Amino acid sequence: MKKKICLFGASGLLGSEFKKIFEAQNLNFIAPKSNEVSLLKHDKVLDYLKTEKPDLIVNCAAYTAVDKAETNKEICFKLNAEAVQNLVKAGIPLINFSTEYVFNAPADLEIPEDYPRDPQSVYGKSKAKGEEALEASDIDWWNIRTSWLWSEGSNNFVSTIQRLSEKYDEIKIIDDQIGRPTYAPELAAFVVKNFILTQIPRSTDALEIRSRDQVPKRGHYHLQNSGTPVSWAGFAQYFLNQTGWHGKIKKISSVEYGAAAARPKNSVLKNTKLEIGLGDWKKPI
Ligand SMILES: NC(=O)c1ccc[n+]([C@@H]2O[C@H](COP(=O)([O-])OP(=O)(O)OC[C@H]3O[C@@H](n4cnc5c(N)ncnc54)[C@H](OP(=O)(O)O)[C@@H]3O)[C@@H](O)[C@H]2O)c1
Repeated sequence: MKKKICLFGASGLLGSEFKKIFEAQNLNFIAPKSNEVSLLKHDKVLDYLKTEKPDLIVNCAAYTAVDKAETNKEICFKLNAEAVQNLVKAGIPLINFSTEYVFNAPADLEIPEDYPRDPQSVYGKSKAKGEEALEASDIDWWNIRTSWLWSEGSNNFVSTIQRLSEKYDEIKIIDDQIGRPTYAPELAAFVVKNFILTQIPRSTDALEIRSRDQVPKRGHYHLQNSGTPVSWAGFAQYFLNQTGWHGKIKKISSVEYGAAAARPKNSVLKNTKLEIGLGDWKKPI
């Protein structure tokens, strides 16, 4: 019997990339939509998992509207913290995703997995609570912190600056937050290869036994594209140079931009646990 994966958040930026790969690789998976199984309905989620009996959960569902979260605190905590507290009760191995917003690290530090959390925003605090729920549980869990996700398709920083560059000759972009962009299709492919296929083999039991040793240990992982850290303005400039845009990027500070939620000035994550990580952000695969 093929092992079964349950994917939550399959309509989102990252979840949609997992769904594409699961389909392409003919993996056995279920991906309930949020209006079919809402993670906010705890009993229903546990009943669903009891019935479906997946071998692994991949949770890409989250409340990701960082600025709106400052005023919609309750729903943000319900999805990013309480829903995870509930998911672990199912006792099923769980791959969860988190963010560098759980940190408040000084500039020039590449943030390792065991760096102390100190979230500064409601979103960051809610994701930190979700992480605590994993740490308090007995299940096998892998919490993959990533940052600045983008892809060609969905609504994200790259699609926004592309749209703005078609309308304006000058775009104002924040220059005092430094990080590394992460290409969502590359992250999903990496996680499938290194965290999922090692425990959900495609065919025989022999393969399953052989690959058990390769399953990474439970815990936190940092997966962000590698390469030279860059500001949002630098990332936009790099991306727009390739489109042949001749406009100007006006670099502004976070204060000038005036977002509702505080963002980390330092979003540079260090992978200290896996032998290999993701490729250079300038060369997404
Ligand atoms: N985007 C980034 O730059 C970034 C950076 C670092 C970490 N992360 C983390 O990466 C993960 C994926 O983020 P993303 O950007 O792909 O998120 P996203 O595009 O905002 O997608 C969120 C997903 O959650 C689902 N969802 C919302 N409410 C739900 C509910 N009540 N029950 C079940 N599902 C629900 C949404 O479904 P509907 O469409 O049906 O509402 C959607 O599929 C998250 O854990 C996030 O914190 C993201």
